[in-house]
Amino acid sequence: VRVGILISGRGSNMASLVKASEAPDSPYRVVRVLSNVEDAGGLAIAAVAGIPTWAKSHKGMPRAEFDALLDAELRAADVELIALAGYMRLLSPEFIAGWQGRILNIHPSLLPLYKGLDTHARAIAAGDAEAGCSVHVVTPELDDGPVVAQARVPVLPGDTPDTLAERVLGQEHALYARALADYARSLR
Ligand code: GRF
Repeated sequence: VRVGILISGRGSNMASLVKASEAPDSPYRVVRVLSNVEDAGGLAIAAVAGIPTWAKSHKGMPRAEFDALLDAELRAADVELIALAGYMRLLSPEFIAGWQGRILNIHPSLLPLYKGLDTHARAIAAGDAEAGCSVHVVTPELDDGPVVAQARVPVLPGDTPDTLAERVLGQEHALYARALADYARSLR
């Protein structure tokens, strides 16, 4: 299954998905990494891994117009499945309609809890004993859509949003690689 990954930042989840795809029995292959941030750190990681990248700033462009560019790049690369990995922008309903059931996202909370930003600060403020991450199918609503996999970590005394984020991120890397492989297998 040909996968395109969308990023906006450092790309640690993308790097983990690429690394997992190098296993001989991987059901997916990462064929493009695309970004709406021209100097996203993850672009260099992808290039070193030999994956063609595409980057263009969305600034000053209507969302649907930018997403049409993304769509064209993904189709030109014969992408079959999209993985959002720290892609910090809502996708337009038109774009999502063209990829129904073919976009996954990772979100750093136990969905349906804490959609949107600052998930770790919110979990700590609520006094939650557990936090975690979720992989879900993308629908037009932000961080909505069927959850396909979750991983949990404890919230420890003295945790700050940063220490909790680091603990969750370790789980994100393992969870996303597993969930993407399972999902890709289900499409074959
Ligand atoms: C991750 O925590 C992801 O869940 C969230 O943004 C962060 C991206 O990190 N949506 P990275 O770019 O994958 O390192």
